[in-house]
Amino acid sequence: MIMPGLFGDLAAPRTHQWKGKDVFVITDSHVRTLYGQQLMRSLAAQDARAWMLHVPAGEHSKNARVAFALQTHLLEKGIRRDSIIVALGGGVVGDLAGYVAATILRGVKYIQVPTTLVAQVDSSVGGKVGIDHPLGKNLIGAFYQPAAVYIDPEVLATLPVEEFRNGLAEVVKIAVALDAKLFDKIESQARRITQQNVPLLTDLIVQAVRLKADVVMADAFDSGVRKMLNLGHTIGHALEAASNFKIKHGAAVAIGLAAESGIAVRMSLLDRRDGDRLIKVLRALRLPTKMPRISSKAKFMSALSIDKKSEGNSAKFVLLKAIGQTSIGVDVPARFIEELL
Ligand code: NAD
Ligand code: GLY
Repeated sequence: MIMPGLFGDLAAPRTHQWKGKDVFVITDSHVRTLYGQQLMRSLAAQDARAWMLHVPAGEHSKNARVAFALQTHLLEKGIRRDSIIVALGGGVVGDLAGYVAATILRGVKYIQVPTTLVAQVDSSVGGKVGIDHPLGKNLIGAFYQPAAVYIDPEVLATLPVEEFRNGLAEVVKIAVALDAKLFDKIESQARRITQQNVPLLTDLIVQAVRLKADVVMADAFDSGVRKMLNLGHTIGHALEAASNFKIKHGAAVAIGLAAESGIAVRMSLLDRRDGDRLIKVLRALRLPTKMPRISSKAKFMSALSIDKKSEGNSAKFVLLKAIGQTSIGVDVPARFIEELL
């Protein structure tokens, strides 16, 4: 369900039968302060028995140690198969809480309440849940669909502007990979988008979620067309890992989109004019497009080859063919990567 103002009414019976249920809200330290108590009060008003658990905000919480600590807390508090886990937060909380839900007692129902734009347009939809491993991002996880996703674009009002922009990178990714008309809209409305116009933002979120949901329904387990959604992510994930997660996911995806479109142009897969349009849109949304200096090239290269999209020994890329069209499983010769670095 996507609706401005939905959060205020989240624990109403129309979203779920909360009455008498044991509900475990998992959130992070920032979102707990902003929205946690409000959700706890409305769950209590519906006669649910609710607990809130929180982890420190940021990517560094998305790991096996934190997941295990959450599982221990849940077991100590008596979680049962018919309990409900609510993931309240950004993509870190969604991936982590979803992973905990998938594994505890061999699977407990969970609901996504995404509060960042990255989470609203991407991570809360599609059931990819997981944690990072020292050898790379998202290497441990599962496909585990949420029972529901509740999206309120108004909660984005409290998001730091940098985090809002990070989410725009995923919106651009979905549009440029799948829908030339949506890309045209973003191109022509870039200024209003950066001003966070709520009706326009709601429309973009609805379109992005619909596009993603269609792809997920066609290929839930990422063995075919869903790989398109990894556009910009092969370089993006390697950048995140090589920067020890100082570069945030959305920013890394923006740089990845720009870098991978440059590779596609050099490989004569993509017309330069389309590559230039993409870079112009990213810049208009104030997203980074230039590769930063990489202090550990070895870490970058090893993250590239261990990325879960790789098969055999070489990284497989998703590359743009035109605005709205991609090629998946492209072998990129090593010299193009070396040029980037
Ligand atoms: P995040 O979860 O770290 O959130 C970013 C920051 O915003 C955090 O500090 C958080 O506390 C804060 N925040 C969240 N909501 C807020 C709000 N409404 N107001 C103020 N502050 C708020 O980061 P993210 O960008 O949401 O997610 C990135 C993660 O998502 C990465 O780990 C990435 O791998 C994952 N991801 C997963 C998928 C998937 O399909 N599962 C897709 C895309 C990204
Ligand atoms: N975020 C990529 C996917 O869900 O497949």
